[in-house]
Amino acid sequence: MGSAQGRSIRVPLVVGNWKMFKTSAEGAAFVHELIESIGPLGDREVMVAPPFTGLFEAVRAARGSRVSVAAQDVFWEREGAYTGEVSAEMLADLGVAAVIIGHSERRRDFQETDEWVAHKVRAVLDSGLLPIMCVGETADQREAGSTRDVLGSQVPTGLAEVRSENAALVTIAYEPVWAIGTGKTATPEMAQEAIAFVRGQVARTLGAEAGDAVRILYGGSVGPDNIDELMNQPDIDGVLVGGASLQLAPFSRIVHFEKQ
Ligand code: PGA
Repeated sequence: MGSAQGRSIRVPLVVGNWKMFKTSAEGAAFVHELIESIGPLGDREVMVAPPFTGLFEAVRAARGSRVSVAAQDVFWEREGAYTGEVSAEMLADLGVAAVIIGHSERRRDFQETDEWVAHKVRAVLDSGLLPIMCVGETADQREAGSTRDVLGSQVPTGLAEVRSENAALVTIAYEPVWAIGTGKTATPEMAQEAIAFVRGQVARTLGAEAGDAVRILYGGSVGPDNIDELMNQPDIDGVLVGGASLQLAPFSRIVHFEKQ
């Protein structure tokens, strides 16, 4: 597959990560409003990721629309004595389409490792859902000049259990930890550079075709003011949005990004 063909299958994707916000009623109401505001936009995909408790109502509200629903985490076993955990099969049963895996808040606050991320990516693919695997360096790592080392380790380790026939189904979100919730966005050039590097790591791990086909999102203080510049970078296929996805006006503007 040449890169032009690979490029054509990378449909732009905007994902709203609600984190631990919104009741199920608030989430459903938001999805209804979002569907209205999206209108006939057909060249991009839009997802929202409510907390587990909001998934059922969000899926119901989104049914038959262009909006789909992602979960924010998953456990890799199918079933068993794992109090408090939820499997990929259970999410698929609910009508969830995708799962965010290895978000930096989970790595930092819940000690998730790259090995756990790899198990989760495999489990999500095995259940027919799309994994959105998050990677990114901390401020200290960037200042120490080790961004490439960090990404060069997180990407291959996280993808270690992906079978080649599933490679094109993987989405990666590059989220520099220092840009999340801080208002400090990476410049579009910094984001492009890191994401091109991540794409190279995907190609090295899963092959050149996968490197072309995998969608890579940018995340970290994305908002109405920087969305168009970000989306006009050649390797940025979409965005993972936290704070600005909680309200309709900014999120709708992000969804309506303009790409030349
Ligand atoms: P932010 O969060 O947009 O609020 O910076 C992004 C994320 O955590 O995915």
